[in-house]
Amino acid sequence: MLTDLKKIKYHETIIDTLGNTPLVKLNKITRGYKGHYFAKVESFNPGGSVKDRIGLEIIEEAEREGRLRPGGTIVEATSGNTGLGLAIVAAIKGYKTVFTMPDKMSIEKIRLLRAFGAEVIVTPTAVPHDSPESYTEVAKRIVRETPNSILANQYFNPKNPEAHYKTTGPEIWEQTGGQIDYFICSVGTGGTISGAGKFLKEKNPNIKVVGIDPKGSILREYFYTKSYPHVLKTYKVEGIGQDWIPGTMNFEVVDDMVEATDKESFLMARRLTREEGIFVGGSCGTAMAGALKYADRMKDNDVMVILLPDTGERYLSKIYNDDWMRENGFLIPDRITARYVLQSKAKNVQQLIAIDPTTTVRKALDLFKENDVSQLPVVEKGKPVGTVIDNALMSAVLDDRSHLDQSVSKLMEPAFPVVGAAAPIEHVIDFLKKKDSAVLIEEDHKIVGILTRYDVIEYMAR
Ligand SMILES: Cc1ncc(COP(=O)(O)O)c(C=O)c1O
Repeated sequence: MLTDLKKIKYHETIIDTLGNTPLVKLNKITRGYKGHYFAKVESFNPGGSVKDRIGLEIIEEAEREGRLRPGGTIVEATSGNTGLGLAIVAAIKGYKTVFTMPDKMSIEKIRLLRAFGAEVIVTPTAVPHDSPESYTEVAKRIVRETPNSILANQYFNPKNPEAHYKTTGPEIWEQTGGQIDYFICSVGTGGTISGAGKFLKEKNPNIKVVGIDPKGSILREYFYTKSYPHVLKTYKVEGIGQDWIPGTMNFEVVDDMVEATDKESFLMARRLTREEGIFVGGSCGTAMAGALKYADRMKDNDVMVILLPDTGERYLSKIYNDDWMRENGFLIPDRITARYVLQSKAKNVQQLIAIDPTTTVRKALDLFKENDVSQLPVVEKGKPVGTVIDNALMSAVLDDRSHLDQSVSKLMEPAFPVVGAAAPIEHVIDFLKKKDSAVLIEEDHKIVGILTRYDVIEYMAR
């Protein structure tokens, strides 16, 4: 049979599937607010993020200018998504890739880039952007040291906002039939907001372009005061916010900037996933949380478009991992239980260390030292029968050395009170306020942990 390729509907390469991402109506999260809300779902891009849009533009420009020749290397400082956009194009065109990434980025992103054959160099997050150790400076050094290499340079490359001026902006204009009043976007390099915002404002200067900035970043403050705080604050949301102003950020097309915290961002990302069925990353939660802060200005017929930059698959180990959320204080139940505070203790101290009454004083003293604790519950057949305190055992041994090889049962004090895991933390605090320095936590008739005064105070301080 003679094949007629014209009859087969296909794309020449995966790059041709870039853009034209869907606009999806939000139905539940925006309930109770006036107006109409649509999400621009960028996870539909081939690499799963809005940043795919800039990879092709940047590489083809470097090829046209002769800066990138066959066999060359593309280097970039990336939070992961730009790297992936570049890695896809590089895979198809046969270039090597080297990416530098701050160490706060999720392990999924590092693995994704390596899956595409990229070399990934992880750098510290908490250093100024111009420090030689920062991901941007390390990337520049690699370019200096590597022949036939380019820096994609998303923070300064005009091709970054231009890609959004050419694709994201026109798509939103066309998909809404020009009926858009608010464009909401979280900001990293500023490429998306500057490019798409410029296009939309040229079409209709009344469209309000609103940037959402993670708390800890300086962009919002700079927007309003034209100065920036010099204290370095870190935050956990990835890909957005800055401690400096990227060359690609054009504040002239921005009408307003709104702030959202890590916690607001992550809880909102989970809601977008669970309530709207759109599996999104942290910066999508930032955009949506900021959008809702802005939504009280919406009138009945207003239309808001919120750009959702990437997919939740990149954050399974973080935003969608309850342990990580809890450890970082992002997942707080309405009623705080003893179990909750126990689980928020550092992983390595969650396990209960208990001894039985026949344990020798020598062994108990070793356990205090090894585990860096000052009291140990004594448990017999699953039931607490006493407590040993380091100071009391040491005084006894100093007084009479023969205690070392005797069992702790002779020197133990009354057992700590037992509290059910589901009890409110206030119940635990009632004991700790009085004479007890710790309580034992029981679940399913088993002692599962200990909460000391220190544990509860540490939890409160967090
Ligand atoms: C997850 C994520 N969200 C949002 C952005 C911000 O996009 P832009 O750099 O166009 O401001 C980025 C940029 O890397 C990102 O990785």
